[in-house]
Amino acid sequence: MKYFIKTFGCQMNVHESEKLAGMLFSLGYSQTDDMNNANVIVFNTCCIRDGVEQKIFGNIGSLKKLKSKNKNLIIAICGCMSQAEGRVDVIKKRFPFVDIIFGTHNIHMFKDYLLSKINCNSNTYDVWEKEKGIFEDVEIKRDNMFSNAWVNINYGCNNFCTYCIVPYVRGRERSRKMEDIENEVKSLISAGYKYITLLGQNVNSYGNDIDDKNVNFANLLQKLSSLDGDFRLKFMTSHPKDLTEDVIKVIANNDKIAKVIHLPIQSGSNSILNAMNRRYTREHYLNLITLIRKYMPYAYISTDIIVGFPGETDDDFMDTYNLINEVKYDGVFAFMFSRRSGTIADKLPDQISEDIKKERIHKLLALSKSITKEKNREIVGQIFNVIAVKDTDDGFEVMTDSGKTMFVKEHLDINKFYNAKVVKMTNNKLFAEIVC
Ligand code: 5AD
Ligand code: SF4
Repeated sequence: MKYFIKTFGCQMNVHESEKLAGMLFSLGYSQTDDMNNANVIVFNTCCIRDGVEQKIFGNIGSLKKLKSKNKNLIIAICGCMSQAEGRVDVIKKRFPFVDIIFGTHNIHMFKDYLLSKINCNSNTYDVWEKEKGIFEDVEIKRDNMFSNAWVNINYGCNNFCTYCIVPYVRGRERSRKMEDIENEVKSLISAGYKYITLLGQNVNSYGNDIDDKNVNFANLLQKLSSLDGDFRLKFMTSHPKDLTEDVIKVIANNDKIAKVIHLPIQSGSNSILNAMNRRYTREHYLNLITLIRKYMPYAYISTDIIVGFPGETDDDFMDTYNLINEVKYDGVFAFMFSRRSGTIADKLPDQISEDIKKERIHKLLALSKSITKEKNREIVGQIFNVIAVKDTDDGFEVMTDSGKTMFVKEHLDINKFYNAKVVKMTNNKLFAEIVC
């Protein structure tokens, strides 16, 4: 018996698919990469932008053929899209061949839904309106053996940025207990995982819902990075209104924490940030960047940007453009604003035309490309924490904490960490040498 899972969206979904896989595995299923061979097909969906949703609808539609060829095929749809208001009815109506639909709050119930389909041929369409705490003890079948392991630290979001559907489909913030996180991380370290990435919509608000002032993100990072073993901690995503100097110092002072920070700004204009309900200013954000670089001059900093938010003028857009040029990010993920029903921004006047959004996103992407080129030129001489990957014709391949590949002359032990200094760049390939 085989399963096929297709995941849309963010790392949170990628990790939740590992939980779905864990449940299938415990029922005796094994994975297949070919949908045609699967007995169970699961689409774990996303609804952050309309384009993703339309793509998913197209993908579900194409399952009809498979189902008509194989009446015993079980099709399940879950995740953020099925959790969003009204989508269950849309899926049931447009795709009556779907057997199981569930949302983000009851993912741990998937095994029961599947068994009732297998044993009683009964379909389940079950989307819970509200979250009900945290469910530990869900089996996990991790994808990337020994490279990266995802670990949830908090679920949900309380921020209600006016463009964003996440708080509506993921519920309010709930933090896992520190000891549960610590135990999971310890077991991953002893299983040999080298990178452990802590996940939350806003990792910086970890612990805000727990009545103990010692339960906070800085202390969690400190505690996890003092565990024994050869590993690196990563985390995502940080919210600029909650990232503190304490957290920045803990990251800077611990070798086991990767110096990789994803810090979405969304817009460089104060009036747009205000309309987005981001609750920080451009100045506050730039101060954070200065602090990060003060403690970690070579930190890898990336961001998310939304162009074409309602009311965004040319001047607002130029504020964003100039901020990107000033910060010189290592990575920029830019999106065109997408109207999400139920959010405040969907109802705002002065919606921006698709043509203007496209023009603005192209300008930003061109800028970010030229910054990347410029930064690559400056990279020679810099020292990076790297992990040894494999021997190749270009030398021994190593990878930085942010995923950049380099080659060294030395023969290294695979999966061990080293420090490497970049010595040259030829044909876009980086060559480095190991320094202690
Ligand atoms: N339209 C466009 N981009 C969005 N994002 C979230 N909601 C929307 C939307 N309605 C982007 C933000 C966020 C990233 C994960 O997706 O930049 O940081
Ligand atoms: Fe969405 Fe804002 Fe929450 Fe991030 S912080 S998930 S952008 S509402």
